[in-house]
Amino acid sequence: MKVLITGGAGFIGSHLAKYLLEENHHITIIDTFSDYYDVTRKKEHLEQIQTIGEFYLETFDLRDEVKTLRHFRENSYDAVIHLAALPGVQYSITHPHEYIDHDIKAVVNVLRAAGETGVPHVVFGSSSSVYGDVEGPVREDQAEGKVKSPYAAAKSGAESFCHAYSSLYGFKLSILRFFTVYGPWGRPDMAIPLFIKKILNGEKIEIYGRDQSRDFTYIDDIVRGIFLSLHQQTESEVFNLGNGQPIELQRLIDLLVDHFPDAKIVDRPFRKGDVKHTWSDIHKAQEQLGYHPEIDINEGLRRTIAWAKKYYE
Ligand code: UGA
Repeated sequence: MKVLITGGAGFIGSHLAKYLLEENHHITIIDTFSDYYDVTRKKEHLEQIQTIGEFYLETFDLRDEVKTLRHFRENSYDAVIHLAALPGVQYSITHPHEYIDHDIKAVVNVLRAAGETGVPHVVFGSSSSVYGDVEGPVREDQAEGKVKSPYAAAKSGAESFCHAYSSLYGFKLSILRFFTVYGPWGRPDMAIPLFIKKILNGEKIEIYGRDQSRDFTYIDDIVRGIFLSLHQQTESEVFNLGNGQPIELQRLIDLLVDHFPDAKIVDRPFRKGDVKHTWSDIHKAQEQLGYHPEIDINEGLRRTIAWAKKYYE
């Protein structure tokens, strides 16, 4: 299969590229190397992909409608996996317009270009944040648009554009809602990678509410879920890709202290924009895709810490 991964130099995209290369797919990556986090890290991601196999790389900004359409006209893809995005809940509160540009406008450009050039399948990387504040495990039909941050609003809006363009052009659509993905090469601004890095540096970690909980999901499970949606999905669908077993941040701290007894922790007030809890109901992905997350938080954290020690030391 010829597959385009937008945001392929990012955390999830680079793991996915490696997996798809191992499965003998032809991979093109479009990435603009935004500096939301260290660009050097993204270059290292690409080096990691190169250890597995060859791929095509295009460096341009998907907010550019003309360049995007031209790229799609010059290439033909069996599937497009749109992972390029400006992430980060807190940054979106101070920079909302950037999210309209990166997380909606660029999505529309990709959807339209894919539709115009007859791409049969578009996969969109969405987020658990579209559920807002909800208690208990959430099913895919429980997203009502009552979100808590501009980031989540952009993801929620982008999902609507996905439905609109799938309806207009007839391509198969997969909306995959990821739940707080972590693992080796994890996005450095997210809690688990940030905590591990700070502990290794002897710095204090800050906790914005120990009673918050997250359905932390290991990267290999997410990548496998995306792969399954490429190969098993017959109709347009929305799927939660989570672990299905959330933990409170207190539990995360306890696990980290098991690994690093000297970890220094400071409590801070809860931050507006964050949701208190996430918890995916993954029955739909289990039944329709055969998605079964395999790595629990103990094993996932062990692997992530082992990677971080090697990477930083
Ligand atoms: C993350 C990503 O940042 C989003 O891009 C993504 O869409 C979302 O997951 C998702 O999967 O839906 P979040 O769940 O808030 O958002 O993940 P983290 O930034 O890793 O935070 C996890 C938890 O740790 C939150 O409760 C947060 O308040 C807390 N946290 C984070 C701290 O207590 N201290 C910190 O220094 C950072």
